[in-house]
Amino acid sequence: MREKGPAPVSTPATTNPSRFGFASHLFCRECGATSDLGATHVCAECFGPLEVGYDQPALTTAAIEAGPPNIWRYASLLPVPPGVATAPSTEPGCTRLIRADHLARELGMDALWVKDERANPTHSFKDRVVAVALAAALEMGYKVLACPSTGNLANAVAAAAARAGIRSVVLIPADLEQQKIAATAVYGGTMAAVDGTYDDVNRLASELADEREDWAFVNVNVRPYYAEGSKTIGFEIAEQLGWRLPAQIVVPVASGAQLVKIDKAFRELISLGLVADTPYRVFGAQASGCAPVAAAFRAGHDVVQPVRPSTIAKSLAIGNPADGPYVLDVVRRTGGVVADVGDPEVVSAMRLLAASEGIFGETAVGVTLGVLRRLLAGGQLDPGAETVIINSGDGLKTLDALPDGGAPAAAAPIGPTLAAFRAFEDSLAAADPA
Ligand SMILES: Cc1ncc(COP(=O)(O)O)c(C=O)c1O
Ligand SMILES: [Zn+2]
Repeated sequence: MREKGPAPVSTPATTNPSRFGFASHLFCRECGATSDLGATHVCAECFGPLEVGYDQPALTTAAIEAGPPNIWRYASLLPVPPGVATAPSTEPGCTRLIRADHLARELGMDALWVKDERANPTHSFKDRVVAVALAAALEMGYKVLACPSTGNLANAVAAAAARAGIRSVVLIPADLEQQKIAATAVYGGTMAAVDGTYDDVNRLASELADEREDWAFVNVNVRPYYAEGSKTIGFEIAEQLGWRLPAQIVVPVASGAQLVKIDKAFRELISLGLVADTPYRVFGAQASGCAPVAAAFRAGHDVVQPVRPSTIAKSLAIGNPADGPYVLDVVRRTGGVVADVGDPEVVSAMRLLAASEGIFGETAVGVTLGVLRRLLAGGQLDPGAETVIINSGDGLKTLDALPDGGAPAAAAPIGPTLAAFRAFEDSLAAADPA
């Protein structure tokens, strides 16, 4: 049986970083069995997933603020070697937290923020998790960086490996967006387009991970380290709010790791005394064409029934999410909801965010903002409570999701004369008299 309630986040202080910093051990999320840090990701007792445990460092907000302007400012809360900030990496993180007043007004909310992950080196939050996985993998002696991916992870792995001077091998479903394929191929690693769903690709990766001993599949055999990277989104949100937690946060869910780790980050900051222990609610967002966690939430189930995905939100198209049950735990513990929206609402939310705030996010943020709207309409999310939504990736990588590939017919050329421009304006007014 899974333990209910949060796992302990750390044990009391020490001042002695090891080869993985203040990370001290792995423990099983299911049975709690502990093991040494190393190249393992499932529990030897029960095959449950492993999680990183820490000796709590003595840490102040001032020490963090004096750190580098990237995720390594939180290195003492990550399973990475002490010198990580000086090794070649893509240096992700410190992305903007944008106050979204126009959007808030449109939605009837008092205070809304967008954590904008487009500013990462390959334009999604995946640079964070890959940077942590890479640092840990090199420390463990792996030679090749690999992954199964729904697109953004492939971009991040190929770029990070290039920067570190090692080989990358990425496996993707063959029907991915052209932009995501191009933004992986350019880095020059090995890319295999697999005829199947992400879940098929993931299974193949697990088989390869068993066979290729010096390949670090970041989200398979190095997953405990990789997933910790998503905590940095939570750390940054708290720091950018002036060292406090938001009351509500809406997070896209594919495997569910990002959501689970943002919650872990908030609990660690509370436990370290770096933020006040104020209540917060975590909400999960899925596309209706791939909503196994939302379905389990609605049904009141602890177990997530796999589905076959069919949605334009390809980055979130994981039908058998590894962290699904843990998403349910976090959301239920904090009083949130996991909900889903259909593809038309995804597109309309992408356009709303772009037009109201100048933020062009990918389909994943269409899902996240679409779910926010749905929860507001259903009275399940408080419009008066300060809320953060995650924009996890860049709209330029999912142009196909928009009508006409994002380039509307109005882009038909006009002559370079004032008369032609005035006629063009008249035609717009005639088409839209409002
Ligand atoms: C843009 C984007 N947002 C969100 C996610 C979901 O991440 P997780 O698998 O940690 O739930 C992904 C995963 O691939 C993604 O690419
Ligand atoms: Zn176990």
